[in-house]
Amino acid sequence: MRTFLLAAASVSLLSLSANAWAGGNAANGKAISEKVCAACHGVDGAKPIAPENPILAGQYADYLERALADYKSGKRKNPVMKAMVDPLKKKDLEDLAAWFSIQKSSLHFQR
Ligand code: HEC
Repeated sequence: MRTFLLAAASVSLLSLSANAWAGGNAANGKAISEKVCAACHGVDGAKPIAPENPILAGQYADYLERALADYKSGKRKNPVMKAMVDPLKKKDLEDLAAWFSIQKSSLHFQR
């Protein structure tokens, strides 16, 4: 019985963490978003203040992390986003990706 409960608990932990991107800390992502990103993308990335700011909510975490890393390295060129990510660490980018990827989005059907 005890073994069964332990096994059941670890299965539910696994399915919880499947939503978050490898190691990304969504709570820290939210905190950064409130300070830096919300002004343009909305705190949950779902309601941008203007159409030129993309919806981030519900995007794949690895896509978001890659986009942020590319702005930082200059591979993807956008002066506004470059200025946003320059002061952030690699871990912050992971955390932001984790946060936005688990937000509800208007980009796809809600099930
Ligand atoms: C001053 C407004 C502004 C702020 C603040 C801002 N962004 Fe952006 N963001 C933009 C614009 C404009 C684009 C589109 C740039 C482009 O065309 O590549 C963008 C693009 C992005 C993209 C690419 C999305 C995609 O679909 O490819 C990501 C990811 C992103 N922002 C994340 C963030 C994060 C995380 C923060 C906070 C650290 C942030 N942004 C702060 C304006 C902003």
